[in-house]
Amino acid sequence: MNCLSPSILAADFGRLGEQIAELDAAGAQYLHIDVMDGAFVPSISFGMPVIRAIRPCTDRIFDVHLMIEEPVRYIDAFVDAGADLITVHAESCRHLDRTIDAVKERGLLAGVALNPATPLSAVSYVLEKVDMVLIMTVNPGFGGQKLIPYTVQKIRDLKQLVDERGIKLDIEVDGGINLYNVKEVMAAGANVIVAGSAVFDGNITENVENFLSILNSRR
Ligand code: DX5
Ligand code: ZN
Repeated sequence: MNCLSPSILAADFGRLGEQIAELDAAGAQYLHIDVMDGAFVPSISFGMPVIRAIRPCTDRIFDVHLMIEEPVRYIDAFVDAGADLITVHAESCRHLDRTIDAVKERGLLAGVALNPATPLSAVSYVLEKVDMVLIMTVNPGFGGQKLIPYTVQKIRDLKQLVDERGIKLDIEVDGGINLYNVKEVMAAGANVIVAGSAVFDGNITENVENFLSILNSRR
């Protein structure tokens, strides 16, 4: 199934609850929550208290993207704050397998993210145990960047790899996705689409509806 996961990094934090309600009403299935620690990525965003505060605003899937060093230290805290799906970066985990287990043991969906330059081989052996692979289409750390063109081939390569091995998982794309390039990443194999500025710049409801009509126009 194709899903839209608006990234609240681009939201107006003074009106966060209201904007989340608008995303929900417009039909966005996931909410993408970018946690940055100022170490794995240059910027700092927000953490558990904000997630806990917005949990009552919607029942949609909380898609928590951890851009932090050694996320295994905080899995329980993010579960308790309200995460449904936790994605960790392969590059930030000393023990990726153990970190995935920590997420699964709490009964959540587990994802692994790869920076643009990280080869797919970094996740090859754990593909069977994760629910999602997140292909970063920009370098993580900031919203509003341009998609790096070579990452589209990486999505295709991942799709081919999972199909050849008969693995069912979601392929998420994150960074620089807009209404003009979303078809291309979907055709390459992505089915969970993150969009920050392309959802929050302008009319949120209209933007979500426009994305969803593209996402629903193909199976
Ligand atoms: C980047 C974050 C993204 C970001 C996407 O490090 O992981 O989720 O919010 O924002 P846009 O869609 O504006 O590139
Ligand atoms: Zn993200």
